[in-house]
Amino acid sequence: MDWDIRTYAELDSTNTQARRMAQEGVGGGLVVVAEKQSAGRGRQGRSWESPAGENLYFSILLQPELAPENAPMLTLVMAYSVARVLREREVFDLRIKWPNDLVLAGKKVCGILTEMHLEDEKIEDVIVGVGINVNTRAFPAELVDKASSLFLESGNVFERQSLLEEILKEFAPQYERFLKVQDLSFLQEDYNALLVNREREVRVLEPGAEYEGIAKGINARGELLVESADGELRKVFAGEVSVRGLYGYV
Ligand code: BTN
Repeated sequence: MDWDIRTYAELDSTNTQARRMAQEGVGGGLVVVAEKQSAGRGRQGRSWESPAGENLYFSILLQPELAPENAPMLTLVMAYSVARVLREREVFDLRIKWPNDLVLAGKKVCGILTEMHLEDEKIEDVIVGVGINVNTRAFPAELVDKASSLFLESGNVFERQSLLEEILKEFAPQYERFLKVQDLSFLQEDYNALLVNREREVRVLEPGAEYEGIAKGINARGELLVESADGELRKVFAGEVSVRGLYGYV
C-alpha cells in the first residue's frame, strides 16, 4: 500500500479531517497525522486528551471492498498491528484489551476509534483513528488510575515518526490478508495470546443488556466469546459495547 501521509500542527480531530478529505475526493491510503487535537474523540462520545508534542494521533482512510458488518474487525487488525510493532520494540508486557485498547501494567496506552460511512448500504469509507500515549510524563488526576504511556511504563522515549511508519508498514499486509479472507482466522491465535482479558471475569455492557462471564478469546469473526455462569457461550460483537474487568479497568 502506498500511504499518503499528511501532517498537521493542530486539528480538531484526525478522524474528522480524514472524513472531510474523503468527501473532497481524497482516496484510500490517506493518513492524517496531528501534533495536537483540539477535539480528539474517543469511543461512545468520550473525548481523547490530545496535548502537543508527546503522543501519536493519526487516522487512516480505507475504502475496502467489504460487507459493512465486517468493518468493525478492522479495529482488531489495527490493535494487533500496533501491538506487534510495540512488542518488536521490546514493550513485551503490552496486551490487547478487546476490542480496541492496548494496555500496559493494567493501564491504557492506546485507543482506536473506527468509523464507517455508508452510501446505499455499501461502504464509502472506513476511518481507523489511533491515539497512542507515547511520551506523556503525567496524566490528569482523573486518568492516573486508568491511563499510562509507553514512556512511563518502559522508561524509554520513543521517536514518534518512525513508530508511525512501522505501524503503517505492519498494518498494510495484515489489512491485505484480512481483505482476502474477510475474517480474522489468520491472526486469531496470535491475537488471543495477547489478550489481557482472556480467562478473566468481565462485565459486558451492551445497549440494553449487561452480563458477566469469563472471556475466552475471539473467534474468527473477532467476536469475544464470554462464558456465563450457566455455561452458555455468548458472542460479543465489537460494536457499541464495553467490556470491563470486574475489579477495575482490565
Ligand atoms: C477510545 O479508546 O475511546 C478511542 C480513542 C481514539 C483516539 C484517536 S486519536 C486519533 C483519532 N482522532 C480522534 O479524534 N480520535 C482518534
